[in-house]
Amino acid sequence: MSQIPAITLNDGVSIPQLGFGTYKIDPAQTADAVRTALEVGYRHIDTAQMYKNERGVGRAIRELGIDRADVYVTSKLDNGFHKPDDARRAFDDTLEAIGSDYVDLFLIHWPLPMHYGGDFVSTWRTLEEFKRDGRARSIGVSNFQVAHLERLARETDTTPTVNQVELHPYFGNDEVRAYCREHGIAIEAWAPLARGAVVADPEVAHIARAAGRSPAQVVLRWHIQRGHVVFPKSVTPRRIEENFALFDFALGDAHIEALSALNKGEAGRTGPNPDRFDNL
Ligand SMILES: NC(=O)c1ccc[n+]([C@@H]2O[C@H](COP(=O)([O-])OP(=O)(O)OC[C@H]3O[C@@H](n4cnc5c(N)ncnc54)[C@H](OP(=O)(O)O)[C@@H]3O)[C@@H](O)[C@H]2O)c1
Repeated sequence: MSQIPAITLNDGVSIPQLGFGTYKIDPAQTADAVRTALEVGYRHIDTAQMYKNERGVGRAIRELGIDRADVYVTSKLDNGFHKPDDARRAFDDTLEAIGSDYVDLFLIHWPLPMHYGGDFVSTWRTLEEFKRDGRARSIGVSNFQVAHLERLARETDTTPTVNQVELHPYFGNDEVRAYCREHGIAIEAWAPLARGAVVADPEVAHIARAAGRSPAQVVLRWHIQRGHVVFPKSVTPRRIEENFALFDFALGDAHIEALSALNKGEAGRTGPNPDRFDNL
């Protein structure tokens, strides 16, 4: 655990730079997968109301007898619950499902600019309540574009600690990344392996051979060296271990640049563009 670097967020709280993602892990399989990850040494788990597997995350931590304070847990507000009273109820449900009286980080999952009259500001103010009452150690956003972040900066008092966005060698998300760096917002890169696609890339394979590591490891190491927080998802024990072994090697500048050069811009996204995503 001590080998994982921590990043200090703009509210002074530290987050382990490497964690374990749980999107698309079946709720019935989640406790097993998270238990495997915790046994390997991961101490940071990313879940969400939308994934319907928060309960399995809490169960795995308890079953292994790990102190709650030793695991960093993130969850996210689902898209149907942006109105303040709905957000308050949904947050209570998250704490109940995880079986804890706090989360380490709570995020607005999507900005949904075409719903709620375009108002994610009152949703953000509701998350500020959770931070004030100590039930969320930190609060942040996910899938926010620059215009959304600028609006929060104009209309609210708290800068998000993190923006969790799609980012990997095929999709550099450069504009959002530059804004966040300039404004002290940590980047959490979701789909760090482009959902597995980038692992098969010939250039990635070439760099992996040169580094003597696996394709997934060099891509995850690229994220780490660029300062991103990452939480690759896998239900495969061998890969869960592989994705954790990132701190006994480093990539040279030429390899970092070669991986960055795989950027396809908008065409590289695996998920929806947040300006248009409107699923409730
Ligand atoms: N905020 C958001 O809107 C948002 C959106 C998407 C994801 N996320 C978060 O980010 C996490 C990671 O993103 P993601 O799950 O979409 O994608 P990802 O981590 O980039 O990729 C997961 C896929 O890659 C495969 N994989 C994992 N390790 C591998 C390895 N070492 N070699 C080859 N293939 C490997 C997995 O297969 P197996 O499982 O079969 O091993 C799975 O199919 C999510 O789990 C979730 O916590 C957030």
